[in-house]
Amino acid sequence: MTKPTEARGKLGILTPGMGAVATTTYAGVFAARRGTAAPVGALSELGRLDLGNGKKPLIKDILPLAGLQDLVFGTWDPYGHDAFEAAVEANVLSAKDLLPLEEEMRSIKPMKAVIDRNWVKRLEGSGNVKVTKSKWDAAQTLIEDIQRFKAENSCDRLVMIWTASTEAYKEPGAVHQSVTDFEKGLKEDNAEISPSQIYAYAALKERVPFINGTPSVTIDNPAFHELAMEYGVPLAGKDFKTGQTLLKTILGPGLKARMLGLSGWFSTNILGNRDGEVLEDPESFKSKEISKKQVLESILESDLYPELYKDAYHKVRINYYPPRGDDKEAWDNIDIFGWMNYPMQIKVDFLCKDSILAAPLVLDLTRFMDLAHRAGARGLPQRRLHARA
Ligand SMILES: NC(=O)c1ccc[n+]([C@@H]2O[C@H](COP(=O)([O-])OP(=O)(O)OC[C@H]3O[C@@H](n4cnc5c(N)ncnc54)[C@H](O)[C@@H]3O)[C@@H](O)[C@H]2O)c1
Repeated sequence: MTKPTEARGKLGILTPGMGAVATTTYAGVFAARRGTAAPVGALSELGRLDLGNGKKPLIKDILPLAGLQDLVFGTWDPYGHDAFEAAVEANVLSAKDLLPLEEEMRSIKPMKAVIDRNWVKRLEGSGNVKVTKSKWDAAQTLIEDIQRFKAENSCDRLVMIWTASTEAYKEPGAVHQSVTDFEKGLKEDNAEISPSQIYAYAALKERVPFINGTPSVTIDNPAFHELAMEYGVPLAGKDFKTGQTLLKTILGPGLKARMLGLSGWFSTNILGNRDGEVLEDPESFKSKEISKKQVLESILESDLYPELYKDAYHKVRINYYPPRGDDKEAWDNIDIFGWMNYPMQIKVDFLCKDSILAAPLVLDLTRFMDLAHRAGARGLPQRRLHARA
């Protein structure tokens, strides 16, 4: 990595999937620009760095991040609604917060999506989809969309973040082993290639950094790392950490810092938004379950601390419960042990708002990814590569 170049001009943020998370992100950015809502939860806006000399400046004052005023949003979605209608449908924000932003929100209209119901079964939108002969053709039309969006919005740089529905879980196959295999697979319409991989491929070919905001396995394969290295583009992301996983990322490091043991962690939640509905499908849920389990393992490092974490039992449940909408309720029962193996329990009941917690992450991830790109980062982060090996 090198010293990043300055963030000049506009940054286009491309969000394939314009549901609850994407529309809440746009609205929050528009409101923050007007000064009507503070960007709570965004490290890139409110976070500070301890320089060790008594000074703690705002991160955004010492790193050349794209300014809030310089962000433009683009999207694809099989539902043809504009962002205002999609936000009303998502039902996360109240009318008093959404109505003042109507004009800006209505200006965001989704481009035609590449979808495949074999990968997301419970997907209803169908009026705004591309009809192409092959996955290769689908990728070429996405590349044209990216180029057109960049030109029409006079963007200097772009970042893509996958905010669409979680896809079915499938291990990478032969088609994901190299760029050559993958491109051959696109041309042959290989069933092992998911829609999110077609978007990610189009992004990388346009030298656009790609972030996965969902647990889908999209970029977790050698072909994408190879392509990103070749094109000098960074890759990142594995699900937003909002409900159960947010608590794991907060409590896990605390337990480890105190060298307390874990014998079991049971998490369950109820969620009633469209994401919850998609996750009712066992194949989409499997992607979520695996990514949630990986989080705790990567924090606790049971290989280094076997006496504390080797036998920890971890169970994750998600239940679709329409009355709650985006207001998720997550329960955690954590069985821990301390000095002389004496057992203790922690019980947490977290009443959270899923997209309110995810939106600032979209802002942070895209801004930091754009910074990483300007600093010469490429491919998957080292930790992800080691985890994959
Ligand atoms: N809500 C959260 O806080 C949260 C937290 C962690 C992860 N996630 C993940 O983020 C993603 C988005 O969550 P959400 O709550 O906004 O879901 P959502 O269901 O409200 O929105 C997803 C959108 O993606 C669209 N879509 C599906 N396949 C597509 C494709 N191939 N191309 C373009 N658009 C497509 C759907 O039509 C829908 O509008 C989900 O995968 C979810 O699991 C969300």
